[in-house]
Amino acid sequence: MSKFLYGIDFGTTNSALSIYDEEKKTIIKTITVPSLLYFHQEYGADEALNYVVGKNAIAAYLNDGMKGRFIKSIKQILSRSSFIETRIHNKRYNASDLVALILKDLKAKADKITGYDCKKAVIGRPVFFDDDSTLKDTLAQTRLTKAATIAGFSDVRFQFEPIGAAFAYEKTISKIEKVLVADLGGGTTDFTFLVLDPANAGNKDRRSDMIASGGIYIGGDSFDSAFMWDKGTPYFGKNTLYEATPGKILTVPISLFANICSWDKMNFFNGLRIQKDLENYYHYSKNDRKFKNLITLIDNNLGYSIFQSIEKTKIELSDLPVSQFTYNNMGIEINEEISRPQYDAVIEKDIRKISTYLDEFMLKNNIVPEDIDSLFLTGGTSLVGGIQQLFKTKFPHIPVNSGDNFTSVAKGLAYSGYLFEEE
Ligand SMILES: Nc1ncnc2c1ncn2[C@@H]1O[C@H](COP(=O)(O)OP(=O)(O)OP(=O)(O)O)[C@@H](O)[C@H]1O
Ligand SMILES: [Mg+2]
Repeated sequence: MSKFLYGIDFGTTNSALSIYDEEKKTIIKTITVPSLLYFHQEYGADEALNYVVGKNAIAAYLNDGMKGRFIKSIKQILSRSSFIETRIHNKRYNASDLVALILKDLKAKADKITGYDCKKAVIGRPVFFDDDSTLKDTLAQTRLTKAATIAGFSDVRFQFEPIGAAFAYEKTISKIEKVLVADLGGGTTDFTFLVLDPANAGNKDRRSDMIASGGIYIGGDSFDSAFMWDKGTPYFGKNTLYEATPGKILTVPISLFANICSWDKMNFFNGLRIQKDLENYYHYSKNDRKFKNLITLIDNNLGYSIFQSIEKTKIELSDLPVSQFTYNNMGIEINEEISRPQYDAVIEKDIRKISTYLDEFMLKNNIVPEDIDSLFLTGGTSLVGGIQQLFKTKFPHIPVNSGDNFTSVAKGLAYSGYLFEEE
């Protein structure tokens, strides 16, 4: 029998798997893979050859001239009851089938290292998958459980992602601490307030250490959408005027631009009717040059590559005072300098929502800053300057720690083996 347990953080942007050796009581390896899927345009009978996972998905997608099906942020469909299935290569894929492809990839890589077909996994889940709707939340967890089964895991427990992060942090401390953990990812921001004690690590039941957990459906993806709306859409003809009827000048519908701001809405443009509408707006705008860019974006499936430029700008601004937002492709020309204050203004609304949520979370759970010994920030979005500023302003006297932003959750999940022993 396998002596291993896998801790799996299936993230909106990145997924990670930590291999825990239950005999040696240590993590032997952590693997990461971007949560991306690409189905080639051309396909054959062997399903495994028809799709690519992770980093290679981007390369394959670009290599195919962006013609196949590229899927990102799959985690967000888990809670969406309106998503039933999608047809790719004449095969139907429901949410669990798609997620299973990522889990399978991670499992195969890990099994190769351990030499076992490991069936035992602690899988992370955000505190709330979507909003506070219990129905949607249950649906998401059921779908994730099913995905784990399809991927070959028969012995599964779930753990809140920020608790995973907390356990990774617990390995680095030497005394009891009451810690506020914030895990800011691509899709969600999760908080947990708990007592960490290195002496308790490995205890059978950690329930009494958890004081409060909560979360909000805002993460790095929301920042990228806000950036596209503020800084991107003007290059794609937002506010273009067209002559609706002779002498009657109107602005093209704003909804067109809302639909290019988030990845999952892009398929809005797939219908024939909307394509015709776009042609008409273009014609009656007297061939507006920027509106043409919108048509180019849609016709050539450029969404992902534009969002890559947006993400690059964001990541640069985590370290530098200014960055260049550039995108030059198929006649679309974007070269704009973006400063940190400008970026802060773009994400201000989201930062405010996170801030308000955190205030409410503390109030509801009777937590005052004096109760908190330290903060632990993790997740890619915790690197954003405006986020770091938010915590500094709110808790000026509390020490802020951070660990490995992309693997701490998976590691802590791998340290959660006690879940298999709890009554
Ligand atoms: N250096 C950086 N500065 C700012 N943002 C970053 C940086 N590196 C990554 N990000 C952003 O962090 C997010 C991904 O973080 P992470 O891998 O923690 O998320 P996730 O675990 O996949 O998502 P979730 O936990 O919400 O399901 C993305 O939005 C990415 O653009
Ligand atoms: Mg995460």
